[in-house]
Amino acid sequence: MNNKVEVPNHIGLIMDGNGRWAQERGFARTIGHKTAVATLKDLCIYMADLGVRYASLYAFSTENFKRDNKEVDFLMNLFMNVFNKEFNFVKEKKIRVLFSGRREPLPNNVLKSMDKIVEETKNNNDLVLNICLNYGSHAEIIDTAKKLCNMYKNGEIELKDITEDFFQRNLYHDLPPIDYVIRTSGELRLSNFMMYQASYAEFYFPKVYFPDFNRKEFDKALEEYNNRDRRFGGIK
Ligand code: IPE
Ligand code: IPE
Ligand code: MG
Repeated sequence: MNNKVEVPNHIGLIMDGNGRWAQERGFARTIGHKTAVATLKDLCIYMADLGVRYASLYAFSTENFKRDNKEVDFLMNLFMNVFNKEFNFVKEKKIRVLFSGRREPLPNNVLKSMDKIVEETKNNNDLVLNICLNYGSHAEIIDTAKKLCNMYKNGEIELKDITEDFFQRNLYHDLPPIDYVIRTSGELRLSNFMMYQASYAEFYFPKVYFPDFNRKEFDKALEEYNNRDRRFGGIK
C-alpha cells in the first residue's frame, strides 16, 4: 500500500451502541444518546477536514418507533435541540445538511428544526451530511416506486425510462453510491440502512460503542478501508 490514504467519497455511519455505552457505566440510556452528539459533531468536523464528500448518518430508523415512548420522546427532543442549537459548526464548515426518511409521524417541532437547517445550508457544497431520520431502506424503495408510478400515470415517463440510473436519482436524494459502511458496537447487520446505495460498499464493524468512536477510531477505519481490494465484479 502506498502512503497516501484514500478517503471514501461516501461514508455510511450506523451510530449504534449508545444505550449499552451508558448502561455499562451505570447511567440511563439517554446519557449515551447525549454523549453521542458530542462524538458526532467532532467526527463531522474531522470528515469535512479530511475531504469526505458525503456522509450518511443513521440517526433513527423506521423501526426505532418500537421503543418505549419515553426514549422516543427523548430522542425527538434531542434531535430538535441539536438541529436548532448545536449545528452551528455546519455553517462554519460549509457543510450541507439533507434528511432522508419519511416525515410522518415526526413531530412538527422536529420537522421545523430539520427544514430550517436544510434551508440554511442549501448553498454549502463541501461535505454533504445526509441524516437518516425515520429512515428505512424498505420505505425508501417503496416511496420511490410510488413516485415513479405516479410519473408514469401522469405521462411524464415511459417504462423504458426506468433504468438503474433513473431509479437511483429518484431515491430520497440523488447521492453517489456508498463506499464504506461503518457500524459501531459490534452488531453485524444493516438494520434497514441504505441497502440500495450500499450494494457495493465495503463494511467495517468496530466493537466500540458510538460515543467512543473518536478521531483515532476513525483513522483505524480509514486504514482498514485502504487495505480493501474493491473489484466491483471485475478482475484485477
Ligand atoms: C443507537 O444506539 C442510537 C439509536 C438507535 C437512536 P442504541 O440506542 O441502539 O444503543 P444500543 O444498541 O441499545 O446500545
Ligand atoms: C440501527 O440501530 C438504527 C440506528 C443506529 C439509528 P438499532 O439499534 O435500532 O438496530 P437493531 O435493533 O440492533 O438492529
Ligand atoms: Mg442499537
